[in-house]
Amino acid sequence: MSERLELVGVAGAGTMGCGIAHVLLRAGYAVVLTDEVPQALGAASEKITAGLARDVEKGRLTDQARQQALGRIETSAQLDALSPAGFIIEAVTERFDVKAEVLRKLEVFCPSDVVFATNTSSISVTRLAATTGRPQRFLGLHFFNPVPVMTLVEVVAGVETLPETVEGACQFARSLGKIPVRVNDFPGFVSNRVLMPMINEAVYAVMEGVAEPQAVDEVMKRGMNHPMGPLELADFIGLDVCLDIMKVLYEGFRDSKYRPCPLLEKMVHSGRLGRKSGRGFYDYSTAQAGSTTAG
Ligand code: 3HC
Repeated sequence: MSERLELVGVAGAGTMGCGIAHVLLRAGYAVVLTDEVPQALGAASEKITAGLARDVEKGRLTDQARQQALGRIETSAQLDALSPAGFIIEAVTERFDVKAEVLRKLEVFCPSDVVFATNTSSISVTRLAATTGRPQRFLGLHFFNPVPVMTLVEVVAGVETLPETVEGACQFARSLGKIPVRVNDFPGFVSNRVLMPMINEAVYAVMEGVAEPQAVDEVMKRGMNHPMGPLELADFIGLDVCLDIMKVLYEGFRDSKYRPCPLLEKMVHSGRLGRKSGRGFYDYSTAQAGSTTAG
């Protein structure tokens, strides 16, 4: 691999961008991580440092490799710091206008042969690709939270994405120790088209009094071997994110089977967003966070 291809640019240092940067470093890439909010960069650096130390503890990395990895990351509040990168992963806020603005800026200073990947969970890859001058070298690389742990990368081809772009991205995902699965660009791709209606249905079950949140989660954990129940998982993902994705499915397919549950909407409107706000279906404000009170 050329020197430029070994340098990967990640735009956005939130949960996903930070996790992606961690995995890239662990796999031997050099990383430039940008975010317009300097505090986000500080928090990401701390999290990545702790994550790499944990990798050493668990025998996934030698201490020497950890030290080298820490020497291969650069952070910047300026997007143009990504210009030397040979591959760009966009992981900024999940809003079309925000992503389009970042992509338009990147288009100006990134060489035209550089592949752009978006980590969007629900926005049309084809529509995002059309905001750039390189729709053939644009695709979705959908990572899963927690990125250092989850092995899947959903590789999403837009209408114009070239087969070699998809193939290159699959190889790239494998080089990170991930398993790529190719899908086409439809609302929710495969992951969220299947996952979110399950979560939404679990919320309906609570709203209709079928069972308490703990019971719904217990059924799915013990009966279906899911590591987290759907409501615990919804709290983990963020109820606002779940609602946004349900809206994308509902509007994208114009099919009532994707209608967001009114209880989900009510909880989001009241500020109960799950773990990040301290309360969702469970209460995370106490030491036994997430283990007790249903919302
Ligand atoms: N960030 C980083 N690492 C984390 C983490 C987090 N938030 N949460 C857990 N981990 C790590 C732990 O540190 C531990 O790593 P180790 O090997 O160094 O010890 C490992 O995960 C296992 O953690 P635990 O032993 O504490 O706990 P569990 O065995 O219960 O596993 C879990 C935790 C991996 C989060 C598991 O509950 C799980 O797989 N849950 C489902 C997660 C899931 O479905 N994610 C997909 C969400 S959907 C999505 O991202 C798409 C988007 O578009 C919505």
